[in-house]
Amino acid sequence: MKDFYTLGDLSTRAHLDSGAEQPARLAVLGHPVTHSLSPQLHQPALDAHNAGLRYIRLEVEPGKINEALQRLRELEFIGANVTVPHKFEALDACTDIDANARTLGAVNTILFDGPDTLGFNTDGPGFVRAIHEEFLVDVKDLRIMIVGAGGGAGQAIASQCALEGCEHLVLVNRSLDKLTPLAQRLAPHFASDRLEGPGDRLRILPLDSPELHAESDHIDLIVNATSVGLKRTDPSPLPGACLQPHHLVYDTIYSPPQTRLLQEASNHGARTANGLSLLLHQGVLAFQLWFPGSHPLNTMRSALRQAVG
Ligand code: ATR
Repeated sequence: MKDFYTLGDLSTRAHLDSGAEQPARLAVLGHPVTHSLSPQLHQPALDAHNAGLRYIRLEVEPGKINEALQRLRELEFIGANVTVPHKFEALDACTDIDANARTLGAVNTILFDGPDTLGFNTDGPGFVRAIHEEFLVDVKDLRIMIVGAGGGAGQAIASQCALEGCEHLVLVNRSLDKLTPLAQRLAPHFASDRLEGPGDRLRILPLDSPELHAESDHIDLIVNATSVGLKRTDPSPLPGACLQPHHLVYDTIYSPPQTRLLQEASNHGARTANGLSLLLHQGVLAFQLWFPGSHPLNTMRSALRQAVG
């Protein structure tokens, strides 16, 4: 049994499962993939479900997702999770894409169904559940600012906020070039009349905009979707002056558990939460796509607590 597998390990079922008690039939595909917590999340749920299966990490080079998925289907895998940097490539490798994944522009969960490879995205719906669980509010009722809306995670969250019909959405990114096409794609969700534009319900701002501070007065939920905070020495991606006591602040980063942004937000009297709940809920939703009718939430929640100490 290995910490992670590669395409070469998928030559035959016997080779893949040599030395293992249970057959591998679910995997997370990433590059690199060794850091992925998905096995710690899904294996306990599989065991509690008496599935008799193994969940493995599979390192796949960019450009090889199609080949990897074909091999997994031939080896009778149930499905897979897809993580960075493959969520866009997976969109093209699927034969059918769920409407939500298409709107989010990325796939994070795959289900093999006979000859078909079905693509879903549980990051967006997982985010809605995470926000409800952490703050007891619904995304659709909120005025939201997403910092790092141009990145992969940010675009998925922004698209889900638009799909939910949130009150007001401010997309913030260091570079504006990724935000313009995103805002054009999301604008129809904010138009009260199809012939009208989104009005002021949808805005884009660069991270260094002097308007950021005034805009934050009218925001309920701030989301960090940048990678700033992953290192313990990282600063907050948002100037402290933008943080106010009425804010809910959600950091998609969960390791470290308290980023500088969350510390500063707490100091300003805001309510805060980290990305562990997003990891949990996207995982629960993926598991339920593979095993309809299952209830892995409690098992996964305690597994995750153990995994992150
Ligand atoms: P992805 O592959 O998902 O785009 P990424 O390159 O790590 O991941 O970037 C994620 C987000 O973090 C992006 O919004 C990125 O901003 P840019 O689009 O301007 O690159 C943001 N980001 C990364 N480093 C940053 C930094 N030092 N300051 C502000 N934003 C940063």
